[in-house]
Amino acid sequence: MGGILPRIGVMARAPGEKNMAKRSLTLAVVFWLLTGVGGVHAAGDMEAGKAKSAACLACHGADGNSINPEWPSLAGQMQEYLVKQLQDFKSGARKNAIMAGMVAPLLQQDMEDLAVYFASQVLKVSASADMEKAQEGQRLYRGGNAQTLVSACMSCHGPSGQGIPPRFPRVSGQHAVYSESQLLAFKAGKRSNDNEIMTRIAFRMSESEIKAVAHYMSGLK
Ligand code: HEC
Ligand code: HEC
Repeated sequence: MGGILPRIGVMARAPGEKNMAKRSLTLAVVFWLLTGVGGVHAAGDMEAGKAKSAACLACHGADGNSINPEWPSLAGQMQEYLVKQLQDFKSGARKNAIMAGMVAPLLQQDMEDLAVYFASQVLKVSASADMEKAQEGQRLYRGGNAQTLVSACMSCHGPSGQGIPPRFPRVSGQHAVYSESQLLAFKAGKRSNDNEIMTRIAFRMSESEIKAVAHYMSGLK
């Protein structure tokens, strides 16, 4: 515990944030890390995962790079996060009618195998189209919003959006349409499998901030 606390304290800190908000967010993160969901992972099998991924490819793409921007790319996403999302769809902690049907037949080992396979695929990132929107998004991503106490996204998702295992997912190179839909879902409390970390942050974001940051993240490598 002595080792975890100072490190998380640094991670959750955003420039310009007031101390109270900083502390409550830090405590939420530390609590979540210490209580832990999912626990120890069984090792996934890459070849088995590849075979099982046949059921997923129609939506998530042949190599985990989805073509429809409403469906997330899974390529290069961190393994622990993928397993957690599959578990959450199955338990109903994360609600989505399509994915609920997809995970219903999956056992824990299937989830581990699929996660190893998708995590090993290479994410394709295309350059951001709208520079002005990307710049607005970049400011928020790196510095947060001191007025509305929105934390810098970078402190948990990493400076280049690659994420910090095992809890903080990769957000770089993801479809802007998908990221925006998730931020709006967190804001509205419709996605609530995040132990209130993202719901609290998204609640304070404006819809135009959400659009801008989603656009910025989609072009991040
Ligand atoms: C018919 C289309 C479809 C199929 C087939 C499908 N998915 Fe999905 N998947 C989706 C959609 C849509 C979402 C976004 C759900 C939401 O908005 O919460 C999603 C989300 C996910 C996520 C969460 C990603 C993230 O970044 O949080 C994972 C993991 C996932 N799917 C894995 C799978 C796996 C593994 C399979 C095959 C067993 C599969 N999906 C099959 C449509 C599909
Ligand atoms: C204190 C840490 C923390 C900060 C700061 C943070 N996030 Fe997150 N974020 C998380 C965690 C944890 C999750 C995964 C929740 C779960 O397990 O479903 C997440 C998930 C997400 C997702 C969903 C990813 C997916 O594939 O579905 C998006 C999008 C996102 N964050 C964007 C942002 C943006 C934009 C900001 C800055 C405004 C931000 N985050 C700041 C911790 C953080």
